[in-house]
Amino acid sequence: MARILVPGGAGFIGSHTVLALSEAGHDIIVYDDLSNGHADSVLAGTFIEGSILDSAKLDVLFKEQAIDAVIHFAAFIEAGESVKSPMTFYKNNVAGSLTLLQAMAKHNVRNIVFSSTAAVYGQRDDLDLLSEEITKQPINPYGHSKWMVECMLRDMATTGAINAIALRYFNAAGSDPEGRIGERHEPETHLIPLILDAARGKRPNIKIFGTDYATPDGTCIRDYIHVVDLARAHVRAVELLLERPSKTGSYDAMNLGTSQGYSVREVIDAAKQVTGIDFEVIEEGRRPGDPGKLVADASKVAADLNWQAERSDLRTLLEDTWAFRRNLD
Ligand code: UFG
Repeated sequence: MARILVPGGAGFIGSHTVLALSEAGHDIIVYDDLSNGHADSVLAGTFIEGSILDSAKLDVLFKEQAIDAVIHFAAFIEAGESVKSPMTFYKNNVAGSLTLLQAMAKHNVRNIVFSSTAAVYGQRDDLDLLSEEITKQPINPYGHSKWMVECMLRDMATTGAINAIALRYFNAAGSDPEGRIGERHEPETHLIPLILDAARGKRPNIKIFGTDYATPDGTCIRDYIHVVDLARAHVRAVELLLERPSKTGSYDAMNLGTSQGYSVREVIDAAKQVTGIDFEVIEEGRRPGDPGKLVADASKVAADLNWQAERSDLRTLLEDTWAFRRNLD
């Protein structure tokens, strides 16, 4: 058993990871400023309200608690928002991560798993599958902020100060299969929750953003990954750092996806089947900044973490999300 600090543990992926950590027997401290998270999503561990920008509070926290590792989720995630408010994103995501890393260094906490994203790759419609080593060309401040933190982790690992694993998520979706927690972004911008809101009559329709992409049906293709599969990968990653600590520092980055992409149309059709509800679909122009296709080469994580997606087939993913979302206000 290890004591794990989880900044951002009240958010969507964080709260599911907290459940998985608890089920694996770990002791958890969730640290979240609730700017986007929900305190009632924290179903295990101790909850402390606080910001990763608050160095004094982090100092007290690390002094009082014997932390073995950090799983860092605390970040703003809306790519579109990041274009409008880059400073907010750089402050929270980059300066916040630096403040957290400084507190870790001061208290000699060496292990960190970092929430990264496929957005570090940018617009690579020329590639079928994106592997970890391709050039990082983010196309928005959100992607840049995540890549900057990865660079900090890599450089600190080179000095021997830390052991880090960055997990680059593709399209996180799904919900706890027992329906205890799920995705609750305000406002919601992600495709699957919006489709299901159209199915339950909370929205008049679902809009398809772009039908002229160079894909078989003209709509964007994404690699959707179930949040429970993501959560399991975080447990594996942190346990790997704890079981095989490097004294000279280590940094590794892994894609978390399925290597299988679905188009917007395919997701909508599957959602109509799963819910048994027909709803209006409206074709619109492209949303600025959307790459046509983002699909992971997920072979590295399979080999390094001995991890496979188990609930990320489209039907299971939609069924789990529907079970949670249909009862949401
Ligand atoms: N889409 C629609 N209609 C909608 C909402 C979305 O057609 O109402 C389309 C988008 O244009 C896109 C696809 O559905 O082609 C998926 O869009 P999401 O907003 O659900 O997700 P994104 O692919 O834009 O981004 C997500 C995360 C990012 C992360 C990225 C990695 O929000 O943080 O996945 O693949 F970087």
